[in-house]
Amino acid sequence: MVATNTPVNDLVAIHTKQAAYRTFVVAVRVARGSVPQILLWDTPDPYHYVRLQSGPDFDVLMVGGEDHKTGQEDDGERRFARLEEWTRRHFPQAGRIEYRWSGQVMEPVDGLALIGRNPLDRDNVYVATGDSGNGMTHGTIAGILLTDLIAGRENPWTSLYDPSRKTLGSLKEFAQENLNVAAQYADLVTPGEVDAVGRIAPGDGAIIRRGLSKVAVYRDEEGNIHERSAICPHLGCVVQWNSTEKTWDCPCHGSRFGIDGHVANGPAIGELQEAKAE
Ligand SMILES: Cc1cc2nc3c(=O)[nH]c(=O)nc-3n(C[C@H](O)[C@H](O)[C@H](O)COP(=O)(O)OP(=O)(O)OC[C@H]3O[C@@H](n4cnc5c(N)ncnc54)[C@H](O)[C@@H]3O)c2cc1C
Ligand code: FES
Repeated sequence: MVATNTPVNDLVAIHTKQAAYRTFVVAVRVARGSVPQILLWDTPDPYHYVRLQSGPDFDVLMVGGEDHKTGQEDDGERRFARLEEWTRRHFPQAGRIEYRWSGQVMEPVDGLALIGRNPLDRDNVYVATGDSGNGMTHGTIAGILLTDLIAGRENPWTSLYDPSRKTLGSLKEFAQENLNVAAQYADLVTPGEVDAVGRIAPGDGAIIRRGLSKVAVYRDEEGNIHERSAICPHLGCVVQWNSTEKTWDCPCHGSRFGIDGHVANGPAIGELQEAKAE
């Protein structure tokens, strides 16, 4: 049973059925009891959602949203600012920001989790993924459904969550998401974002072209240069700089890597290779 959020055992099949998104959260201080204990979300795309955590001295209102496809934007500060503006507009009692962070959610093309036998695999390999931000509910469903499947018991949800299902209603989304992934491979032949390492400011990262390949270059605050190959070891897309998290993020299926190349997020299981010398 592979429950690694995005399956690390699968090269292609599952990754054509879901896409990785970065999501952003600000947590602001509010006076105790000034916001009722309710769960809220709105319906634009991307949407906003609101949660409340009670504390001994004050409550913390968490507001999330402003999602974008992983590795396809690098404007986290603007997204945090928009979340804060939205929060203060709807909750005038909002005090100072206590925390802010971003995370990754897997969005299946038809909105329902993928729980069951792994497509195109042996009979005894199961996955639970595609939570679309509803991992608490889907996690419980996965526990019940996968137990039944492994024990050979019938479960009425089997076909609903079957990772091999074809949902006619979502064919358009399926095609759009996969065209979007295919378009990312064009980066293999484009020039680098900067033409020389010297143009990268301290604390920043950029992709440069070196011969036939591309290199992910990060200059740390002390001016030291950290280089890795920019080619994602999962299926070969070119990673992009994420200045909010200081990671290299893959625009194809959401793998993420540290500045030293280590895997922070699957489906890749191998690190970014060492960069070839000039
Ligand atoms: C900001 C944010 C807010 C959210 N809010 C909500 C919410 O309000 N309600 C809700 O229901 N859901 C919410 N979600 C979604 C929910 O958190 C996830 O769907 C859920 O945590 C996914 O559970 P998981 O067990 O599939 O994956 P994870 O919790 O990510 O666990 C995967 C595990 O696999 C391990 N792993 C990964 N790769 C490997 C490997 N190669 N080898 C070995 N182990 C590996 C990881 O270390 C990790 O422990 C939110 C998500 C985010 C990012
Ligand atoms: S995550 Fe699939 S190519 Fe990078």
